[in-house]
Amino acid sequence: MMKRLCTLLGLAAAILATSTARAADFKVGLSLPTQREERWVKDKQVMEAEAKKAGIDLRVQVTDNDAAKQVAQCENLISQGVKVLILAPHDASSAAVIIDKAAKAGIRVISYDRLVTNSPLDYYYLSFDNVKVGELQGEFITRKVPKGSYIVLAGSPTDNNAKLFREGAMKFIKPLADKGDIKIVMDQFVKDWQPSEAQKLCEQALTANQNKVDAVLAPNDGTAGGCIQALAAQGLAGKVPITGQDAELAGAIRIVQGTQSMTIFKDTRELGKRAIQMALELANGKPIDTQGRTVNNGKKDVPSVLLTPFIVTKDNLDEQLIKSGYLTREKVYRK
Ligand code: BGC
Repeated sequence: MMKRLCTLLGLAAAILATSTARAADFKVGLSLPTQREERWVKDKQVMEAEAKKAGIDLRVQVTDNDAAKQVAQCENLISQGVKVLILAPHDASSAAVIIDKAAKAGIRVISYDRLVTNSPLDYYYLSFDNVKVGELQGEFITRKVPKGSYIVLAGSPTDNNAKLFREGAMKFIKPLADKGDIKIVMDQFVKDWQPSEAQKLCEQALTANQNKVDAVLAPNDGTAGGCIQALAAQGLAGKVPITGQDAELAGAIRIVQGTQSMTIFKDTRELGKRAIQMALELANGKPIDTQGRTVNNGKKDVPSVLLTPFIVTKDNLDEQLIKSGYLTREKVYRK
Protein backbone atom coordinates (compact mmCIF):
# COMPACT_ATOMS: atom_id res chain seq x y z
CA MET A 1 0.00 0.00 0.00
CA MET A 2 2.70 2.43 1.15
CA LYS A 3 4.86 1.49 -1.82
CA ARG A 4 2.04 2.16 -4.29
CA LEU A 5 1.36 5.54 -2.69
CA CYS A 6 5.03 6.48 -3.03
CA THR A 7 5.05 5.47 -6.70
CA LEU A 8 1.94 7.55 -7.32
CA LEU A 9 3.43 10.55 -5.53
CA GLY A 10 6.64 10.18 -7.50
CA LEU A 11 4.67 10.11 -10.74
CA ALA A 12 2.74 13.23 -9.78
CA ALA A 13 5.99 15.06 -8.94
CA ALA A 14 7.49 14.07 -12.28
CA ILE A 15 4.45 15.34 -14.16
CA LEU A 16 4.58 18.63 -12.23
CA ALA A 17 8.30 19.06 -12.93
CA THR A 18 7.90 18.57 -16.66
CA SER A 19 4.84 20.77 -17.10
CA THR A 20 6.82 23.97 -17.45
CA ALA A 21 4.71 27.04 -16.70
CA ARG A 22 4.89 29.44 -19.56
CA ALA A 23 5.58 32.96 -18.38
CA ALA A 24 2.44 34.37 -19.93
CA ASP A 25 0.45 31.85 -17.95
CA PHE A 26 1.17 33.28 -14.57
CA LYS A 27 1.06 36.26 -12.30
CA VAL A 28 3.76 37.37 -9.91
CA GLY A 29 3.11 39.69 -6.98
CA LEU A 30 5.57 42.39 -5.97
CA SER A 31 5.23 44.12 -2.62
CA LEU A 32 7.56 47.07 -2.04
CA PRO A 33 8.05 49.12 1.12
CA THR A 34 8.26 52.54 -0.51
CA GLN A 35 8.76 54.60 -3.64
CA ARG A 36 10.09 57.60 -1.72
CA GLU A 37 13.68 56.57 -2.28
CA GLU A 38 15.30 56.43 -5.69
CA ARG A 39 16.64 52.92 -5.24
CA TRP A 40 13.17 51.43 -4.75
CA VAL A 41 11.94 53.31 -7.80
CA LYS A 42 14.72 51.64 -9.78
CA ASP A 43 13.95 48.18 -8.36
CA LYS A 44 10.34 48.58 -9.45
CA GLN A 45 11.24 49.81 -12.93
CA VAL A 46 13.69 46.98 -13.52
CA MET A 47 11.32 44.27 -12.35
CA GLU A 48 8.49 45.69 -14.44
CA ALA A 49 10.72 45.75 -17.52
CA GLU A 50 12.08 42.24 -16.93
CA ALA A 51 8.63 40.84 -16.24
CA LYS A 52 7.35 42.42 -19.44
CA LYS A 53 10.19 40.83 -21.43
CA ALA A 54 9.35 37.44 -19.94
CA GLY A 55 5.64 37.94 -20.50
CA ILE A 56 4.91 37.75 -16.77
CA ASP A 57 1.88 39.56 -15.41
CA LEU A 58 3.53 41.49 -12.54
CA ARG A 59 1.15 42.93 -9.96
CA VAL A 60 2.81 45.66 -7.90
CA GLN A 61 1.81 47.08 -4.52
CA VAL A 62 3.61 49.76 -2.50
CA THR A 63 3.02 49.83 1.26
CA ASP A 64 4.50 53.21 2.06
CA ASN A 65 6.21 51.97 5.23
CA ASP A 66 3.05 50.57 6.78
CA ALA A 67 3.31 46.99 8.07
CA ALA A 68 -0.44 46.38 8.38
CA LYS A 69 -1.04 47.77 4.92
CA GLN A 70 1.62 45.45 3.55
CA VAL A 71 -0.14 42.41 5.02
CA ALA A 72 -3.46 43.53 3.53
CA GLN A 73 -1.92 44.25 0.14
CA CYS A 74 -0.21 40.86 0.07
CA GLU A 75 -3.47 39.11 1.01
CA ASN A 76 -4.95 40.87 -1.96
CA LEU A 77 -2.12 39.73 -4.25
CA ILE A 78 -2.57 36.18 -2.96
CA SER A 79 -6.26 36.31 -3.75
CA GLN A 80 -5.44 37.51 -7.26
CA GLY A 81 -3.80 34.13 -7.81
CA VAL A 82 -0.11 35.05 -8.01
CA LYS A 83 2.18 32.03 -8.22
CA VAL A 84 5.18 33.75 -6.68
CA LEU A 85 5.36 36.69 -4.31
CA ILE A 86 8.42 38.97 -4.33
CA LEU A 87 8.28 40.61 -0.93
CA ALA A 88 10.47 43.43 0.37
CA PRO A 89 9.14 43.75 3.92
CA HIS A 90 8.71 47.04 5.71
CA ASP A 91 8.65 45.23 9.03
CA ALA A 92 10.85 42.12 9.03
CA SER A 93 9.14 40.10 11.73
CA SER A 94 5.52 41.06 11.21
CA ALA A 95 5.91 40.04 7.56
CA ALA A 96 6.29 36.41 8.69
CA VAL A 97 2.50 36.22 8.67
CA ILE A 98 2.59 36.97 4.93
CA ILE A 99 4.79 33.92 4.41
CA ASP A 100 2.21 31.85 6.36
CA LYS A 101 -0.63 33.07 4.20
CA ALA A 102 1.31 32.54 0.98
CA ALA A 103 2.33 29.02 2.02
CA LYS A 104 -1.30 28.12 2.74
CA ALA A 105 -2.18 29.20 -0.79
CA GLY A 106 0.77 27.27 -2.28
CA ILE A 107 2.61 30.45 -3.27
CA ARG A 108 6.41 30.60 -3.26
CA VAL A 109 8.00 33.67 -1.67
CA ILE A 110 11.21 35.53 -2.44
CA SER A 111 12.23 37.82 0.41
CA TYR A 112 13.58 40.68 -1.67
CA ASP A 113 16.51 42.82 -0.49
CA ARG A 114 15.23 42.71 3.11
CA LEU A 115 14.93 39.45 5.03
CA VAL A 116 11.63 38.41 6.55
CA THR A 117 12.57 37.17 10.01
CA ASN A 118 11.20 34.59 12.44
CA SER A 119 9.36 32.42 9.95
CA PRO A 120 9.85 28.66 10.22
CA LEU A 121 8.56 28.16 6.65
CA ASP A 122 10.41 27.71 3.37
CA TYR A 123 11.25 30.73 1.24
CA TYR A 124 14.23 32.25 -0.51
CA TYR A 125 16.21 35.40 0.25
CA LEU A 126 17.63 37.50 -2.56
CA SER A 127 19.74 40.47 -1.55
CA PHE A 128 23.26 41.82 -1.32
CA ASP A 129 25.85 40.87 1.24
CA ASN A 130 24.55 43.38 3.74
CA VAL A 131 27.09 42.79 6.49
CA LYS A 132 29.70 43.54 3.84
CA VAL A 133 27.91 46.83 3.07
CA GLY A 134 28.36 47.85 6.71
CA GLU A 135 31.96 46.66 6.72
CA LEU A 136 32.75 48.83 3.71
CA GLN A 137 31.19 51.84 5.45
CA GLY A 138 32.89 51.13 8.78
CA GLU A 139 36.29 50.45 7.29
CA PHE A 140 36.13 53.60 5.19
CA ILE A 141 35.11 55.95 7.97
CA THR A 142 37.52 54.58 10.57
CA ARG A 143 40.42 54.85 8.10
CA LYS A 144 39.51 58.44 7.43
CA VAL A 145 38.82 59.30 11.06
CA PRO A 146 40.64 56.82 13.33
CA LYS A 147 40.16 59.08 16.36
CA GLY A 148 37.41 61.49 17.32
CA SER A 149 33.73 61.97 18.06
CA TYR A 150 31.29 59.91 16.01
CA ILE A 151 27.60 60.14 15.28
CA VAL A 152 26.50 56.57 14.59
CA LEU A 153 23.15 56.20 12.87
CA ALA A 154 21.45 52.99 11.78
CA GLY A 155 18.43 52.58 9.52
CA SER A 156 14.88 51.66 10.49
CA PRO A 157 14.67 49.33 13.50
CA THR A 158 12.00 47.34 11.63
CA ASP A 159 14.41 46.53 8.78
CA ASN A 160 16.72 43.55 9.27
CA ASN A 161 19.19 45.15 6.85
CA ALA A 162 19.64 48.08 9.22
CA LYS A 163 20.93 45.62 11.83
CA LEU A 164 23.22 43.91 9.36
CA PHE A 165 24.69 47.20 8.10
CA ARG A 166 25.30 48.29 11.68
CA GLU A 167 26.84 44.95 12.61
CA GLY A 168 29.29 45.26 9.70
CA ALA A 169 30.24 48.86 10.46
CA MET A 170 30.64 48.22 14.18
CA LYS A 171 33.29 45.58 13.47
CA PHE A 172 35.51 48.55 12.71
CA ILE A 173 34.13 51.27 14.98
CA LYS A 174 33.67 49.30 18.22
CA PRO A 175 37.29 48.22 18.76
CA LEU A 176 38.39 51.84 18.42
CA ALA A 177 35.61 53.00 20.73
CA ASP A 178 36.61 50.35 23.28
CA LYS A 179 40.18 51.62 23.09
CA GLY A 180 38.96 55.16 23.72
CA ASP A 181 40.12 56.52 20.36
CA ILE A 182 36.57 56.98 19.16
CA LYS A 183 33.87 58.58 21.28
CA ILE A 184 30.38 57.73 20.13
CA VAL A 185 28.35 60.84 20.93
CA MET A 186 25.15 59.48 19.41
CA ASP A 187 24.03 55.95 18.57
CA GLN A 188 20.51 55.80 17.17
CA PHE A 189 18.24 53.98 14.72
CA VAL A 190 16.36 56.26 12.30
CA LYS A 191 12.60 55.72 12.13
CA ASP A 192 11.54 54.50 8.68
CA TRP A 193 14.93 55.58 7.29
CA GLN A 194 13.54 59.13 7.14
CA PRO A 195 16.01 61.82 6.07
CA SER A 196 14.16 64.39 8.21
CA GLU A 197 14.60 62.17 11.29
CA ALA A 198 18.30 61.75 10.54
CA GLN A 199 18.61 65.51 10.19
CA LYS A 200 16.94 66.05 13.58
CA LEU A 201 19.22 63.51 15.26
CA CYS A 202 22.32 65.13 13.78
CA GLU A 203 21.14 68.58 14.84
CA GLN A 204 20.67 67.28 18.39
CA ALA A 205 24.11 65.67 18.45
CA LEU A 206 25.77 68.79 17.06
CA THR A 207 24.08 71.01 19.63
CA ALA A 208 24.83 68.67 22.53
CA ASN A 209 28.51 68.55 21.55
CA GLN A 210 29.07 72.19 20.60
CA ASN A 211 29.57 71.04 16.98
CA LYS A 212 32.53 68.90 17.99
CA VAL A 213 31.74 65.98 15.74
CA ASP A 214 34.46 64.43 13.58
CA ALA A 215 32.62 61.74 11.60
CA VAL A 216 29.13 60.51 10.80
CA LEU A 217 28.15 56.94 10.01
CA ALA A 218 25.00 57.47 7.94
CA PRO A 219 23.48 54.17 6.79
CA ASN A 220 22.24 55.30 3.36
CA ASP A 221 22.19 58.25 1.00
CA GLY A 222 18.76 59.41 2.16
CA THR A 223 19.80 59.70 5.81
CA ALA A 224 23.20 61.10 4.76
CA GLY A 225 21.32 63.85 2.90
CA GLY A 226 19.44 64.76 6.09
CA CYS A 227 22.65 64.79 8.15
CA ILE A 228 24.47 66.89 5.56
CA GLN A 229 21.75 69.53 5.85
CA ALA A 230 22.33 69.60 9.60
CA LEU A 231 26.09 69.86 9.04
CA ALA A 232 25.63 72.58 6.39
CA ALA A 233 23.59 74.68 8.81
CA GLN A 234 26.69 74.77 11.05
CA GLY A 235 29.13 75.39 8.20
CA LEU A 236 30.44 71.83 8.54
CA ALA A 237 29.33 70.23 5.28
CA GLY A 238 32.40 68.87 3.51
CA LYS A 239 34.44 69.14 6.70
CA VAL A 240 33.01 66.14 8.53
CA PRO A 241 33.42 62.81 6.70
CA ILE A 242 30.11 61.00 6.26
CA THR A 243 29.12 57.67 4.72
CA GLY A 244 26.15 56.69 2.57
CA GLN A 245 24.71 53.82 0.55
CA ASP A 246 22.62 53.24 -2.61
CA ALA A 247 24.49 55.31 -5.20
CA GLU A 248 21.50 57.63 -5.53
CA LEU A 249 21.92 60.52 -7.91
CA ALA A 250 21.76 63.03 -5.03
CA GLY A 251 24.44 61.06 -3.16
CA ALA A 252 26.69 60.93 -6.22
CA ILE A 253 26.30 64.68 -6.75
CA ARG A 254 27.26 65.31 -3.12
CA ILE A 255 30.32 63.06 -3.52
CA VAL A 256 31.43 65.06 -6.56
CA GLN A 257 30.79 68.31 -4.69
CA GLY A 258 32.65 67.01 -1.64
CA THR A 259 29.93 67.06 1.02
CA GLN A 260 29.49 63.26 1.16
CA SER A 261 32.55 61.01 1.40
CA MET A 262 31.34 57.72 -0.06
CA THR A 263 28.40 55.61 -1.05
CA ILE A 264 27.79 51.94 -1.72
CA PHE A 265 26.82 50.72 -5.16
CA LYS A 266 24.35 47.86 -5.07
CA ASP A 267 23.28 47.20 -8.63
CA THR A 268 19.51 47.11 -8.33
CA ARG A 269 19.32 46.31 -12.06
CA GLU A 270 21.00 42.99 -11.32
CA LEU A 271 18.88 42.36 -8.22
CA GLY A 272 15.61 43.05 -10.03
CA LYS A 273 16.63 40.85 -12.93
CA ARG A 274 17.55 37.97 -10.62
CA ALA A 275 14.21 38.30 -8.81
CA ILE A 276 12.25 37.83 -12.01
CA GLN A 277 14.51 34.93 -13.08
CA MET A 278 14.00 33.27 -9.70
CA ALA A 279 10.25 33.81 -9.90
CA LEU A 280 10.22 32.04 -13.27
CA GLU A 281 12.26 29.16 -11.92
CA LEU A 282 10.09 28.78 -8.84
CA ALA A 283 6.93 28.87 -10.92
CA ASN A 284 8.39 26.04 -12.97
CA GLY A 285 9.09 24.02 -9.85
CA LYS A 286 12.85 24.30 -10.30
CA PRO A 287 15.09 24.47 -7.24
CA ILE A 288 17.18 27.61 -6.91
CA ASP A 289 20.90 26.99 -6.65
CA THR A 290 22.13 29.11 -3.74
CA GLN A 291 25.43 27.24 -3.54
CA GLY A 292 24.78 26.41 0.07
CA ARG A 293 24.57 30.03 1.12
CA THR A 294 22.10 30.83 3.88
CA VAL A 295 21.17 33.65 6.23
CA ASN A 296 19.62 32.91 9.60
CA ASN A 297 16.22 34.51 10.18
CA GLY A 298 16.03 33.82 13.93
CA LYS A 299 14.16 30.53 13.37
CA LYS A 300 15.98 28.88 10.48
CA ASP A 301 18.65 29.24 7.81
CA VAL A 302 17.08 30.72 4.72
CA PRO A 303 18.66 29.75 1.39
CA SER A 304 20.09 32.97 0.03
CA VAL A 305 21.40 34.54 -3.13
CA LEU A 306 23.59 37.48 -2.14
CA LEU A 307 25.09 39.88 -4.68
CA THR A 308 28.24 41.89 -4.11
CA PRO A 309 28.21 45.55 -2.99
CA PHE A 310 30.95 47.98 -4.07
CA ILE A 311 32.34 51.05 -2.40
CA VAL A 312 32.21 54.34 -4.35
CA THR A 313 34.30 57.41 -3.63
CA LYS A 314 35.21 60.45 -5.72
CA ASP A 315 38.11 58.40 -7.12
CA ASN A 316 36.15 55.52 -8.64
CA LEU A 317 32.72 57.10 -9.14
CA ASP A 318 33.12 57.40 -12.91
CA GLU A 319 34.27 53.83 -13.21
CA GLN A 320 31.61 52.35 -10.95
CA LEU A 321 28.55 54.44 -11.59
CA ILE A 322 28.94 56.16 -14.94
CA LYS A 323 30.74 53.56 -17.03
CA SER A 324 28.32 50.93 -15.75
CA GLY A 325 25.45 53.13 -16.94
CA TYR A 326 23.86 53.28 -13.48
CA LEU A 327 23.94 57.08 -13.48
CA THR A 328 24.61 59.52 -16.31
CA ARG A 329 27.57 61.88 -16.48
CA GLU A 330 25.30 64.82 -17.41
CA LYS A 331 23.23 64.42 -14.27
CA VAL A 332 26.08 63.71 -11.85
CA TYR A 333 28.31 66.53 -13.06
CA ARG A 334 25.55 69.05 -13.73
CA LYS A 335 26.67 72.58 -13.02
C1 BGC B 1 18.00 48.84 1.68
C2 BGC B 1 18.77 50.11 1.40
C3 BGC B 1 17.83 51.30 1.54
C4 BGC B 1 17.06 51.24 2.84
C5 BGC B 1 16.01 52.33 2.93
C6 BGC B 1 17.34 48.93 3.02
O1 BGC B 1 16.67 47.78 3.33
O2 BGC B 1 18.86 47.74 1.60
O3 BGC B 1 19.31 50.05 0.11
O4 BGC B 1 18.57 52.49 1.52
O5 BGC B 1 16.43 50.00 2.98
O6 BGC B 1 15.03 52.17 1.99
